[in-house]
Amino acid sequence: MTRLRPRTLRGQLTLGLVVLLAAIFVGVGIGTTTLLHSFLVTRLDQQLTAAGPRYAQSLEHELAAADTRGQTQGTFGARAADNVITQDGVVDGTSMTGDNTGQVNLSAADTRALLALPTDGSPHTLCLAALGEYRLRAVKGADGDFLFTGLPLSPVSATVRELATAEFALFGGAVVAAALGGAAWVRLALRPLDRVATTAERVSTMSLASGEVALDVRVPDAERHDEVGRVGASLNRMLGHVGDALARRQAVERRLRDFAADAGHELRTPLAAVRGHAELALRRGDEIPPDALHALTRIEAESRRMGTIVDDLLLLARLDAGRPLESTEVDLTLLVLNAVDDAQAADLAKAGDGVTADGTADATADGTADGTAEVTAALTRHEWRLDLPTDPVTVPGDPHRLAQAVANFVTNARVHTPAGTRVTVGISVHADRVRLAVEDTGPGLAPDLTDRVFDRFTRGDPARSRASGSTGLGLAITRAVAEAHGGRVGVISEPGRTVFELVLPMRSAT
Ligand SMILES: Nc1ncnc2c1ncn2[C@@H]1O[C@H](COP(=O)(O)OP(=O)(O)OP(=O)(O)O)[C@@H](O)[C@H]1O
Ligand SMILES: [Mg+2]
Repeated sequence: MTRLRPRTLRGQLTLGLVVLLAAIFVGVGIGTTTLLHSFLVTRLDQQLTAAGPRYAQSLEHELAAADTRGQTQGTFGARAADNVITQDGVVDGTSMTGDNTGQVNLSAADTRALLALPTDGSPHTLCLAALGEYRLRAVKGADGDFLFTGLPLSPVSATVRELATAEFALFGGAVVAAALGGAAWVRLALRPLDRVATTAERVSTMSLASGEVALDVRVPDAERHDEVGRVGASLNRMLGHVGDALARRQAVERRLRDFAADAGHELRTPLAAVRGHAELALRRGDEIPPDALHALTRIEAESRRMGTIVDDLLLLARLDAGRPLESTEVDLTLLVLNAVDDAQAADLAKAGDGVTADGTADATADGTADGTAEVTAALTRHEWRLDLPTDPVTVPGDPHRLAQAVANFVTNARVHTPAGTRVTVGISVHADRVRLAVEDTGPGLAPDLTDRVFDRFTRGDPARSRASGSTGLGLAITRAVAEAHGGRVGVISEPGRTVFELVLPMRSAT
């Protein structure tokens, strides 16, 4: 049933109108034809009663001499005695004299039906095989016989049929006209609603979650005093509220951004001073007592780290503000090679720290070391793989920011996975987009982390990460850089397979 319902309100209203009208016409049609039929039958009965059994009586003498004066054409007469039809005839109306009556060949069933007719003098309808439908009336004759007189119902049926045909044509035309006119009228009446829907659709496709959004669309029909006007006015009021809320959100965001940028700038100078003084003091290392030397080293390291955090926050604030980035053709392949090179070097340095003091850790590189050193080194390092196209892939963008974005992925794959993990960095081109993927075979992200791993200050294990110097800003920066370039980031993670991807357009969006 629902499948038959039109999709638009316009269609539903038009269909409703047509169905209602058709139902009314069918009712009127049935009513008028029934009334006409019963009216005509009543008139026929009156005629039958007025004519009396004169014709039937006259048949008793001789068919040819039957008294047909004043009898309607088609009048049927019959006489029955002792349950047998003795005479019958029908007025054929050819002339008033001579053989203008005809014998009727009544079938056995016709005869039975006639004889079964009540002799109360009131008319009854019978369908005779020889004559068709008749109104018939039986009366008792003077000499104990029964006299039947009947008039055909065919003229009544013909008249009723004519009326029905005329009504069908007339009402059918009216329904078609109503469908066409109704559709046009409904369309006209619903046009304001269409405008409301268009406005609502336009607003619904706007992305209001972030950025500077001007919500200046309004419904044009809000002045009307009907339902559409009310809906329009409510929608406009709602849009006004949403617009206010958006403006407030944007103001708060702007203030927060300005605050982060200002605070960053203000912190930079004292931080640089702290670091500078610490470095200066450390130059006279041999004159300083060991515990003070340790404190100074820590001050220098921590102020360096704080400098990095401040730089990250400043960069994020700048990206948030939508400041234009530098734009040149950046060789993404080269960025990947550099990042992996750096990661390998960091791996080696760590391995060097962990294995032996005499630098056997990097012995695998020149292939001269003994087997034990090689195995130990492999255990403390990652296995790096590259999956790059033969031709260099370039994208338009800011080389420093993109390098940072790529390095964040690669560093994470090194820092947040155990040694021995295989890391594959690949680049692939899909139509007008480039996909850079960093895949590792490490333990992966905790399920609750996957959704918010690109948010600021999200870290796997906050307590441990803080101690290890991680801030949770790396992926947030990567995402901001990707979005500033018209691209996006993504992650899929399960134990044994974690893929971070960066998708960038190959042509500049602007
Ligand atoms: N390849 C990975 N495997 C497992 N966990 C990861 C991986 N990459 C990131 N993570 C998790 O996601 C968290 C957020 O990463 P993100 O780079 O944003 O911050 P961070 O590395 O902790 O700090 P920062 O990069 O700012 O020094 C990490 O703390 C880590 O728990
Ligand atoms: Mg990181």
